Amino acid sequence: MISIRGLRFQYKGAKRAALDNINLDIADGDFVGIIGTSGAGKSTLTYALNGIVPHHFTGDFYGQVLVDGMDTVDSSPEQLSAKIGSVFQDIDAQMVASLVEDEMAFGLENFGVPRAEIGGRIDEALAMVGIGPLRYRMIRSLSGGEKQKVAIAAIVALRPSIVLLDEPTGELDPQSSRHIFSMLRELNERFGLTIVVVEQKIMLLCEFVRKLVVMEQGRIAHAGAVREVLAHSDEMEAIGVNVPRVVTLANRLRAAGLYDGPLPLNIDEAEVMLKTILSTDYAD
Ligand SMILES: Nc1ncnc2c1ncn2[C@@H]1O[C@H](COP(=O)(O)OP(=O)(O)OP(=O)(O)O)[C@@H](O)[C@H]1O
Ligand SMILES: [Mg+2]
Repeated sequence: MISIRGLRFQYKGAKRAALDNINLDIADGDFVGIIGTSGAGKSTLTYALNGIVPHHFTGDFYGQVLVDGMDTVDSSPEQLSAKIGSVFQDIDAQMVASLVEDEMAFGLENFGVPRAEIGGRIDEALAMVGIGPLRYRMIRSLSGGEKQKVAIAAIVALRPSIVLLDEPTGELDPQSSRHIFSMLRELNERFGLTIVVVEQKIMLLCEFVRKLVVMEQGRIAHAGAVREVLAHSDEMEAIGVNVPRVVTLANRLRAAGLYDGPLPLNIDEAEVMLKTILSTDYAD
């Protein structure tokens, strides 16, 4: 469980706050997507969750962030990493070994996991992420999507209850991006991990996550269930967040009184919406 109350953070030397008046709860087992334009504060929010803010990046910090009851100001990033595992944007910088198995063992050793347990923990994490066959591969021989999965498996091996990812598909093509999100859904639904993911690709987010947080200039502009948030598509477009076209279309049809069913999130659902509209008798 994550609870953020009245969070404000201004990087040392910065002119304005990167996060301002942030209040947010994330329940155990939730799957949350964070979206917003460049500079909105998405990465800074992830730093506030894993303790990088205020421990590594210093500045003015007000408010309270609790991660499974641990106050991020009183706990070190190392202590927090037992609860919340972070996959950063630059995974190449995060990887230290040349072999997949060694990369995973390195993290576990650093974490103080007894040697006898390490092999089993690697098996477990590779299976959870669905990449068992990659165990003995050289990291430099992997595709971008495979490498990203290894980075996620290395974090999952530490058995956090929350996995935090900052633009995990930034370097990936659409198909590999979908693979990453399908795998995150598995981790969430089958293994009960809480997933918090910053992502620019809104169609992907809307298809996979349950809740959306929209950030604008350090603040939360909207937060809630995906369809609730997308009902505000005009306001989201106004702050520069591109909403799927089918969503904008549905919101306009609703405003015109032509449709009052569920909001479609993809082309198949839009087809159902249009068939509903066409089969409705508007003869009056
Ligand atoms: N180390 C830093 N020192 C000072 N200011 C910073 C630092 N890192 C980020 N900022 C500023 O904080 C604000 C929020 O940045 P942040 O990186 O959190 O945005 P973002 O939403 O992740 O953007 P992007 O989509 O480009 O990754 C920006 O104005 C940025 O310039
Ligand atoms: Mg960022």
